[in-house]
Amino acid sequence: MDPRHRRISASTVATLALLASVVPTWAAFPDRPITLIVPFAPGGPADTFARIIGEQMAKTLGQPIVLENVAGAGGATGTTRAAQSKPDGYTIMIGHMGTHGAAPAINPNLKYDPAKDFAPIGMIAGTAIVIIAKKDFPARNLMEFVEYVRKNQTKLTEAHGGIGSVAHTTCALLQSIMGTNTARVAYRGTGQSMGDLVAGQVDFGCDQITNVVPQVEAGTIKALAIATAERSPSLQDTPTTAEAGLPEFQVSAWQALFAPRDTPKDVIAKLNDALVKALDDEGTRKRLLDLGSVIPDQTGRTPDALRELVESEVQRWARVLKGTSN
Ligand code: MLT
Repeated sequence: MDPRHRRISASTVATLALLASVVPTWAAFPDRPITLIVPFAPGGPADTFARIIGEQMAKTLGQPIVLENVAGAGGATGTTRAAQSKPDGYTIMIGHMGTHGAAPAINPNLKYDPAKDFAPIGMIAGTAIVIIAKKDFPARNLMEFVEYVRKNQTKLTEAHGGIGSVAHTTCALLQSIMGTNTARVAYRGTGQSMGDLVAGQVDFGCDQITNVVPQVEAGTIKALAIATAERSPSLQDTPTTAEAGLPEFQVSAWQALFAPRDTPKDVIAKLNDALVKALDDEGTRKRLLDLGSVIPDQTGRTPDALRELVESEVQRWARVLKGTSN
């Protein structure tokens, strides 16, 4: 019998099947493009981070990372979609302090659990919060702004990225500190709300520094104060809230990558490895730092560090938002 046509024995087949089952998914992953869900409209902080990080991670992973903007409900629509996606590493999402921290405290109809329904991949960056106003807002500094809002709150509109977004959550905190409750306009992200602020259609808001730096450089909006202990090197002329007279408003946000729960550990390890390499890439770092990002150190980049952060943020925002009008 021609040896080339010899039947493969059943035991050989069994051995090959066993081998196939023990070869880590790691080795094969990824063998096709990865979808990165952005739960907000294009042009905002989440979209900006997803583009910068996705571009570099694709080089390491050897497969394209395709962004899919699934906006709505302050990020809950896209986050729910990600939570319900197949846990094979080919659908991941960018989440943040809103979607994976404040959302349970703000949105009683939330269809996901930030801590239970996701496999954390890793932190991308910390983002400071800046109090911003339209260019011709009648205030030269933060205290004049606070006074004007207090006296004219029935005439003013705050713009945000949707109920539960970072912009909405942090400005709910600001308004409770100011003792005001102006009208609010919800957008599908702060990429959109920033457009109307620049156009003077809305009056003020709170946004992540990522979205603010380009506008301040262009002179199209007012940045009244940054809610961090130190000024940002990317906004050197913007005082801290403490310097500007409102020390009690101290808050920062963050952006990170998540996969659906039950995504294999070795796949998460490969995605985390690509993220960490992107954060160490010189060009990527410069783009992130120029936008005022705070890049986590090695210990802050692990999936476990992100898991712990999500658990503590959910508790923190439940406490902070209790009693605020939002
Ligand atoms: C966005 O990307 O539009 C923002 O992250 C929205 C927000 O959460 O404020």
